[in-house]
Amino acid sequence: MGELGKIVREAEDLLEPVNIPAEAYVSPEYAREERDKLWRKVWLQAGRLDDIPEVGNYFTYEIGDDSVIVVRSAPDTVGALHNVCPHRGRKLVDVPPGKRNARGSRPNFICGYHGWTFDLDGKNTFIEHQEDWQGRLCDGLSDVGQVKVGTWGGWVWINLDPEAMPLEDYLAPAAGLLEPYQLHNMRPRWRKWVVFECNWKVAMEAFAETYHVSTTHPEFMEFGQFRGWARNQGLHSNIGYDAPKGQEEDSGKLRLGAGEDPRMTTADLQNFTWDNANTNTTRTLVDVANRLKDELPEGTTAAEVSMYWIKTAREIDAARGVVWPVVDPQHTAKAGTAWQIFPNFQIGHAVNNMLCYQARPYGTDPDKCVFEAAVYELYPEGEAPETEWEYTAPDDWPPVLQQDFNNMAAVQQGMKNAGFRGAQPNPYMERSVASLHMNLARYMGKGAPTKY
Ligand code: FES
Ligand SMILES: [Fe+2]
Repeated sequence: MGELGKIVREAEDLLEPVNIPAEAYVSPEYAREERDKLWRKVWLQAGRLDDIPEVGNYFTYEIGDDSVIVVRSAPDTVGALHNVCPHRGRKLVDVPPGKRNARGSRPNFICGYHGWTFDLDGKNTFIEHQEDWQGRLCDGLSDVGQVKVGTWGGWVWINLDPEAMPLEDYLAPAAGLLEPYQLHNMRPRWRKWVVFECNWKVAMEAFAETYHVSTTHPEFMEFGQFRGWARNQGLHSNIGYDAPKGQEEDSGKLRLGAGEDPRMTTADLQNFTWDNANTNTTRTLVDVANRLKDELPEGTTAAEVSMYWIKTAREIDAARGVVWPVVDPQHTAKAGTAWQIFPNFQIGHAVNNMLCYQARPYGTDPDKCVFEAAVYELYPEGEAPETEWEYTAPDDWPPVLQQDFNNMAAVQQGMKNAGFRGAQPNPYMERSVASLHMNLARYMGKGAPTKY
């Protein structure tokens, strides 16, 4: 208790209980300051490279007041441009009403106001009556501004700060530990988004820990116990399951049933997960799980069921051209099951599927966010479905996610209560939450967790 009130600054401080003040979640002033201190400083995951396969393909990324055009400007070049016309400031590419972002294909960008025209690199190629400017539109003044851009994991990342550190440095150690999963090979199965009634941090934190599973998703507890850890990883954090004895940690992610008869509970859990979450598994895994009772004798141990299930599913997928990368179990123990990429992106990785969340501010309203989730898997070459971001009202999300939603709005309300004394995350299972706020405080200059 000698360190009472000590500000949390380093990873080792996160090993002890900390208190997180509510300000970062509920203060309108804090939300306004995030634009300049946070969103315009960090690397942000802006979209999938697969969405812009051909030259001229583009999409926009909207973050608060800012909008960025991500465009394939040459077969091997992806660029990012400020989505604003340098003439008098018209947004260059409009987001269609009700859509998450703009997406399309163009040979160039023509501003709808006075027709200034730009090539795919943002260079001006046409100005009506250009001579009226008396030759002053030089040195790039008539070009669209460039945004820092990088790619990793099959995503395009942007940074609005021209002085930003390289993406590679920013993503360490997450990118290295995730490399064996070959996430760039995965394609979306579905993508949903919604404007939700909570701060973006409340939304991200609802998925950044496993402590809530037993209470929020009690159905899962019939299938076995899952105790999960959370670790600070520099700017980022990751979470994983403590592997049941004798099993690979990956089977924690794949959630092997561990009840009386693991053949049956594995199948039950897979069917339940497929029907109610539509994530964290694939059709192949579900189908093979359903055959376990016919293909394995009664009394087969949980570890043996796990091994047979995964091995068989891997072979069936390989036969249709879906090759899962091989990841050493000891590596999995380090990589865990999900990464919280600072500040607002989560990658729930596995060898054959992944579930990703992102939450963004909704204007400067601290009580709202744009929340989205995308589920990816491996497909045979050329067989990935065409998907788009679908606006999905909260009631229409998979039921397991609705259980999480039920907490999110209520947390937002609760944190404003005069009697709320700040969050007290579990130092082992919810360290990811404390880690986020330790790092946020570095950017925001306030709101750091304190020891108590
Ligand atoms: S604002 Fe774009 S051409 Fe005038
Ligand atoms: Fe949950």
